[in-house]
Amino acid sequence: MSLAVSLEFENSVAVVTINNPPVNALSHSVRQGLWDYLEQIERNSDIKAVILRAEGRTFPAGADVREFGRPRTPPILSKICDRIEALPTPVIAEIHGTALGGGFELALACHYRIADQTARMGLPEVGLGVLPGGGGTQRLPRLVGAAQALDMIIGGKPVSAPAAEALGLIDRAVKKNLHQAALASALNLIDHGAGPRPTRDRVDGLSNVAKYNSEVAAMRTRHAKSPLANIPRIINCVEAAVLLPFEAGIAMERQAFDECETGPQAEALRHAFFAERRAAKVPELKGAELREIHRIGVVGAGTMGSGIAIACLDAGFPVTLVERNVEGLQAGISKIEKNYERSVKKGRIDETTRQNRMEQLNGTTEMQDLGQVDLVIEAVFEDEEVKRGVFAQLDQVMRPGAILATNTSYLDINALADTISRPEDVVGYHFFSPAHIMKLLEIVVGAKTHKDVVATGFALAKKLRKVPVRAGVADGFIGNRVLASYRLAADFMLEEGASPAEIDAAMRDFGFPVGPYQVLDMAGLDISWARRKRLAETRDPKERYVAIGDRICEQGWFGQKTGRGYYIYGGESGPVENPDVLTIIAQERAAKDITPRAFSVEEIQMRCLSAMANEGARLVEEGVALRPSDVDVAKLYGYGFPRHRGGPMMWADQNGLLAVENALKSYQPEEPEFWKPSPIFAELIKNGRHFSDLNGA
Ligand code: COA
Repeated sequence: MSLAVSLEFENSVAVVTINNPPVNALSHSVRQGLWDYLEQIERNSDIKAVILRAEGRTFPAGADVREFGRPRTPPILSKICDRIEALPTPVIAEIHGTALGGGFELALACHYRIADQTARMGLPEVGLGVLPGGGGTQRLPRLVGAAQALDMIIGGKPVSAPAAEALGLIDRAVKKNLHQAALASALNLIDHGAGPRPTRDRVDGLSNVAKYNSEVAAMRTRHAKSPLANIPRIINCVEAAVLLPFEAGIAMERQAFDECETGPQAEALRHAFFAERRAAKVPELKGAELREIHRIGVVGAGTMGSGIAIACLDAGFPVTLVERNVEGLQAGISKIEKNYERSVKKGRIDETTRQNRMEQLNGTTEMQDLGQVDLVIEAVFEDEEVKRGVFAQLDQVMRPGAILATNTSYLDINALADTISRPEDVVGYHFFSPAHIMKLLEIVVGAKTHKDVVATGFALAKKLRKVPVRAGVADGFIGNRVLASYRLAADFMLEEGASPAEIDAAMRDFGFPVGPYQVLDMAGLDISWARRKRLAETRDPKERYVAIGDRICEQGWFGQKTGRGYYIYGGESGPVENPDVLTIIAQERAAKDITPRAFSVEEIQMRCLSAMANEGARLVEEGVALRPSDVDVAKLYGYGFPRHRGGPMMWADQNGLLAVENALKSYQPEEPEFWKPSPIFAELIKNGRHFSDLNGA
């Protein structure tokens, strides 16, 4: 018998317990154990009721994602669900923690469901590029109808136990003693002679066929343009629940699941799932002692500083916010206030929470007030001199052992750390704007950063609900280095003949929410202009320089905030291409004697993506990124790279490394250094390997 499942008897109730830490995923050992015990239960006529429960922190949180994409060893979940549902005695699911995916489908196959008040349940398979494969698309709509079922399966968001009770998904949510309550329910069912209540026979959600069909049709229209291969299949399966007999619906679901599971989107999404978790595993964690963080200081109350303060307040930390003068401080505090007022209006938080958060915020113009904090995140103007000044003051006032973090996008952390007496306490936290919303946090590890400081950063990121990625010191770290190459590849095409709108459209077509020139307009063209001016002195004169951005800025056009950039804003029908920019581009081409040519969507995508993957490979080669999947995580969480494509390194793997290397080589004559393939390509290609082989466990 499998050790992952056990069977005990409490009077005439069979209690089946799953025990497969950490999240009771439905791995083969669990499925086999369930199968074997179901057989025993079927043969034992003394059993009058069954409870299905799990040990540890949660009811099964889903199928074992590690088994996806390869042939599944029987018994498969869907057969187990059918077998549970067919038992002649009542079966109760006793749900705690997070009953997700296959775990929730097991519960749906049970005849009754009782859950701890704090439990959550749902079907997040959509996020892995698949759909529920254990009967979820057929059983869920039978309980709650099409609209709710589609919301849960396509939205993928779990619902709380009280919400599930209100929806009729579970019979009861209990505040305490869940197992006692489940047992009492079982005995009660036995006393009342209640038999099984198979979900497949329930019609609650199917009774109004016209309504059901119109809800399906509405969802189909809403998602008509989705690039995701699983969405139309989910809708078809849910539609089938009302049209087809149960078995035929299940067969359809299985086929749809298999088609999705082996596809490239599911592969990329699985990669994203594991890449995110892998990114949090860094060598510094070994043997590190976490430093305690109770109070946080934030220096600088501008856009970044106030966003960072909100992220810290949201995580429950008291925050001391420092600004040079009262006006600046007041402006920062009012940004934070407005954010919380908006959150209350939108129903995201209640008034008491708003008050609590604001009470935890302490504004000051005195650096001395940071004497008692455990961590300071400096978020002042991105200028080496300014940051040095702040660090010198922090060095004076902060207690020994406190952490000094700098929020920088580009600056050299080692140089900054060496200006103070405790470089081992210095670390970079690169937040992304808006800092309280964007998930990515690059944790930049300097040459002297103590491992305790690094480990504490990763622990803090989890509390701040950020996705941390470790980066070594390099201009632009991981995310901005790759972004710079992406933009350069795009700029070269502008000069050669493509228009900003064509490039933007091609990248949106690939799956980015917006194209690179739209992003530049949003961020403000003056920001990258200032950086280019800063770097002008040290730029290699042999490097190909595209001056189109500078010419646009010289007109005073800085993008959205000035109403003009690559696009013109403010018109009734939304942004339109800026014809004057097209003139500037034409002038630049003429100045360089370039005869413009056309670029296909495919070529635009290939050039941009291969530039990104090549830069990612260089970052791995230089040790700035620990592994290719960290590059992917940075792009997915900080730069809008479409998740179903898995990130630039996954894209290169899927596209074929040889094809990408060949493309890079074919562009090389245009700009030899920029397009030179990282040697990692050749190394992997000759051994038949992929970037994913460099990711480790
Ligand atoms: N299959 C295999 N492993 C899984 C898993 C699954 N379905 N769900 C979680 N794990 C693993 C994680 O990879 C991680 O392993 P690690 O410690 O070796 O890195 C470990 O379980 C803990 O997961 P983590 O996400 O770090 O813990 P958490 O407490 O933050 O979140 C969950 C727990 C269950 C909410 C979260 O893991 C989750 O959402 N899992 C996926 C659920 C899902 O999509 N199920 C549908 C599959 S059909």
